[in-house]
Amino acid sequence: MKLLGKTSNAARAKKHLPLSQTTYYEDPLTLVGGSGTRVRDNEGNEYLDAFAGIATTTLGYGNTEVAEAVADQAKKLVHTSTLYLTDELLDYVEKIADVAPEGMTKAFVTNSGSEANETAALISRSFKKSADFLALEHAYHGRTLYTVALAGQSQWRNFGPDMPHVAFVPNPYCYRCPLGQTYPSCGIACAKAAKRVIETATNGAPAAMIAETFAGVGGIIAPPLEYFKVLKETLEPFGTLLIADEVQTGWGRLGDGMFGINSTYDVIPDIITSAKGAASGMPLGICITRPELADAFKGPHINTFGGNPLSTRAGRVTIEVIEKKDLIANAKRQGARLLAGLRDLQQRFPLIGDVRGRGLMIGVELVKDPVSKEYATAEAARFLEEMRKRKILVGRGGRWGNVIRIQPALIFDDSDTAEFLKAFEASLAAL
Ligand SMILES: Cc1ncc(COP(=O)(O)O)c(C=O)c1O
Repeated sequence: MKLLGKTSNAARAKKHLPLSQTTYYEDPLTLVGGSGTRVRDNEGNEYLDAFAGIATTTLGYGNTEVAEAVADQAKKLVHTSTLYLTDELLDYVEKIADVAPEGMTKAFVTNSGSEANETAALISRSFKKSADFLALEHAYHGRTLYTVALAGQSQWRNFGPDMPHVAFVPNPYCYRCPLGQTYPSCGIACAKAAKRVIETATNGAPAAMIAETFAGVGGIIAPPLEYFKVLKETLEPFGTLLIADEVQTGWGRLGDGMFGINSTYDVIPDIITSAKGAASGMPLGICITRPELADAFKGPHINTFGGNPLSTRAGRVTIEVIEKKDLIANAKRQGARLLAGLRDLQQRFPLIGDVRGRGLMIGVELVKDPVSKEYATAEAARFLEEMRKRKILVGRGGRWGNVIRIQPALIFDDSDTAEFLKAFEASLAAL
């Protein structure tokens, strides 16, 4: 396909990118630049971005502090490998020890969330001397072999992950309770079900259970506030470690603290993994834990790019800017306004089955009918197109692709929120 003598990007992608690499929209969007919460395409359109490159551009596009730090570092030193120390790496892990929960003072630094989760699996397996693992139904932890085996959604388990042994625990998906119960009278039965899963589907002492603090790809599933306490208590008699996957929920997104598991849920896990928003768009992953766990893995261990000076410097600056600009409080405030506005729309549009989330991690589940809760998958795809027409970007998730994901940069302000809600309403009306 040629446009004005030039091959379209859709045609170029079809020729040279694997078809599995899916893009949003019937006519994929090519992005060329951005500033703050706005991003531009190659046709000169500007969009309010409420998805932030999958919850990743924490400080927005073109943040000066990060850009200047990266430019300065690029001139000084880009790469060393983990065979050498750098001040940038050490400054970063010291900063992490400051913001992580008490006692979590050591960190493996990686390039991505998948790698951070692989590292968490490696160290917990070494520590517990057990190969069995637990994960949640509806989970997503990455695209490496181990993390695909941990996926709780069939479409993401698509290359035969038959090596690691993983047993699945029901997800705290209250809107569609897998146990057919109702919160709070359920007594968090889904967390307690981990006991039965351990006793019947594992070696009796799984090394760890990995759980996203909120499921992201699975459709912004926000567990009840008691959930992680009950889960931890259930795992403890078996000596099973708890790994909190904060790849999406980290860096203040839930509006309570730097990580959701301790600040929202008041639980200190054994390991925290994160990535995405860690360096506001620069590739950076991290696996944070206590010294006895970190050092249980005897190595040798290297990571060519992990902990590189460019990403770790951007990571440190990202945390400093979050603190300096009080962006966690902003996430809380804008999140509350967004949730209130969306719940108001829910009263008027039966297409909205559920509105859930916290801070700037919000999901709107679309259903064909609020009673039958039939998945409105095609409608969700059309909704994204309608929002695009109104120059707003949102994401889509859930096992059936019917959940609209709202995960903007932490700098989303009052006028962004007002503009967003207006476009959301108009897009629902257009459907
Ligand atoms: C919760 C969670 N864990 C892990 C990952 C994998 O991260 P990455 O794509 O950086 O490998 C993702 C990515 O979406 C994620 O959402």
